[in-house]
Amino acid sequence: MKKLSIITLLALLAISVRAADYLPIIGNVLNRQTISLNGDWHYIVDIQEEGYYDYRMNPTRWGFFRNAKPQKPEDLIEYDFDASPTMKIPGDWNTQDQRLFFYEGTVWFEREFDYTKKAGIHTLLYFGAVNYDTHVYVNGKKVIHHVGGFTPFNVDITDALKDGKNVVILKVDNKRHAEAVPTQIFDWWNYGGITRDVLLVEVKQTYVENYKLALDRQDFKKIHFNANLNKGVGGETVTIRIPELKISQSLTTDGNGCVSAEIKAKPELWCPENPKLYKVYIEQGGETIEDEIGFRSITTKGKQILLNGKPIYLKGVSMHEEKSNGGGRANGSDDARQLIGWAKELGCNFIRFAHYPHNEHAVREAERMGVLLWSEIPCYWTIAWTNPATLENARNQLRDMIMRDQNRANIIIWSIANETPHSAERDAFLSNLAGHARFLDDTRLISMAMEVTGASNYVNRLNDNMNQYVDIVSFNQYVGWYRDVNDAPKMTWEIPYEKPVIISEFGGGAKYGYHGEKNQRWTEEFQENLYIENLAMIEKIDGLAGTTPWILKDFRSPRRVLPGIQDYYNRKGLVSDSGEKKKAFFVLQKWYEKR
Ligand code: GCU
Repeated sequence: MKKLSIITLLALLAISVRAADYLPIIGNVLNRQTISLNGDWHYIVDIQEEGYYDYRMNPTRWGFFRNAKPQKPEDLIEYDFDASPTMKIPGDWNTQDQRLFFYEGTVWFEREFDYTKKAGIHTLLYFGAVNYDTHVYVNGKKVIHHVGGFTPFNVDITDALKDGKNVVILKVDNKRHAEAVPTQIFDWWNYGGITRDVLLVEVKQTYVENYKLALDRQDFKKIHFNANLNKGVGGETVTIRIPELKISQSLTTDGNGCVSAEIKAKPELWCPENPKLYKVYIEQGGETIEDEIGFRSITTKGKQILLNGKPIYLKGVSMHEEKSNGGGRANGSDDARQLIGWAKELGCNFIRFAHYPHNEHAVREAERMGVLLWSEIPCYWTIAWTNPATLENARNQLRDMIMRDQNRANIIIWSIANETPHSAERDAFLSNLAGHARFLDDTRLISMAMEVTGASNYVNRLNDNMNQYVDIVSFNQYVGWYRDVNDAPKMTWEIPYEKPVIISEFGGGAKYGYHGEKNQRWTEEFQENLYIENLAMIEKIDGLAGTTPWILKDFRSPRRVLPGIQDYYNRKGLVSDSGEKKKAFFVLQKWYEKR
């Protein structure tokens, strides 16, 4: 394999640090001074982007973002948001307008809101996520362009706002592209639109932009606290209070607007059996940010994963961010409680949120329910490894995933990729991401879902260069489904790394209610038998520290077209799309009871 020269690597690195029109995401937005813009938004489906380009495909000044209205009878305005249909935001367009079920392209969104500007207050416009390529306009003024469908972004719109009626308009395009992240093909539904909360956030001119509170990984009587203001202002007082731990400490910002401290404390440690969260208050400039934070340590020792210094087995399942009953993108605590509730019935203490960062409500709900998490960015299959813009995009998604959830005790693993083809270019790209993740957060474990690299004579080998950059070697295997049906009992595994092993995917499909012989594809009996054989095979693997079978619930995918069985659903769920438990559900449940 051709080794990339240091020069190339450095060039890639240099390009990736170039900042776009980017305002760091504001941490803990859910507990800030906010006004929700969720609700009914008008929308216009614009397949040929008539609202953005002129007939020569040049961006036009007369686009839909102007929200123009005829002033004189002879005026020609060929769009009208007020007369256009509405859909619920947050929500995807595919499940709200039947014409858009398969639609990939541009949709414009518009919403009016009244606002009164306040002296000394800055107003940020915050999006939990918009899939995929988004241009945002406030009162006709372009305020930000963002790419990436699963991470938050925000922008200061104070100058664009006016007292009284304001209008926010978005051009959202979810078309797939080879150089995008994810790339052109992926096995989930490409739900388009404003899929998470939209908020106005009111902050002082100088505010605490983000902060991190984490238990020391070795010394459980020490807490590390870091916070940064939105600007490099020294001499500002930032106070941290944790009443239950009798902590109240005031710190002064340095010239970069940052504070950091090591605080002595003996917190009760967060774990699945006792998901203890402490009320935390961060005060600055007359503002108080409240949060609920748990303290835990996550490390590895040889082939063991240690939670609070003790070995733990991650009894997991993989999960997509999709409502049940064909409801589209999940985006709230209710959806999360239902899905995580099913995982808990399985006996899980861990969930792999696949293949992209899920919404913050789900992460916090899992934290309250005592469920550990694997959070991943969608570097999925054949990413454009040598494209600097693709690397920057992936780095930005990684950064924003970490910056949003760095205080969540239940997130223990950052995953940088899934099933990616081996090459020097891929290794350079992914090792860059692994390094970036460690730079941004040195309190968690790094992994990625690898693939079995060789299997002959029933010997399965994992041989992946990326093993040196991750803390946990995880891989997907589909013995019994995509290969070697009924051969699981004969299989052996060679995983030559002194690191914990997670089987990040295994499983097979079944249509709920379809019954027959255990060798009949798509029957519950086939899936049940596959689980029985796979679990017996897997438990012999040396260093096995966790499993996240594919997958909790049947989910929509445009790649699954078998009539009467799939009907655009991947049927590898242990529960059907409406939560009916398949026979394999109980096989895994019993296996987890023993672990
Ligand atoms: C892959 C992939 C999943 C996919 C699954 C399947 O391993 O990671 O996204 O859905 O296999 O084939 O069902």
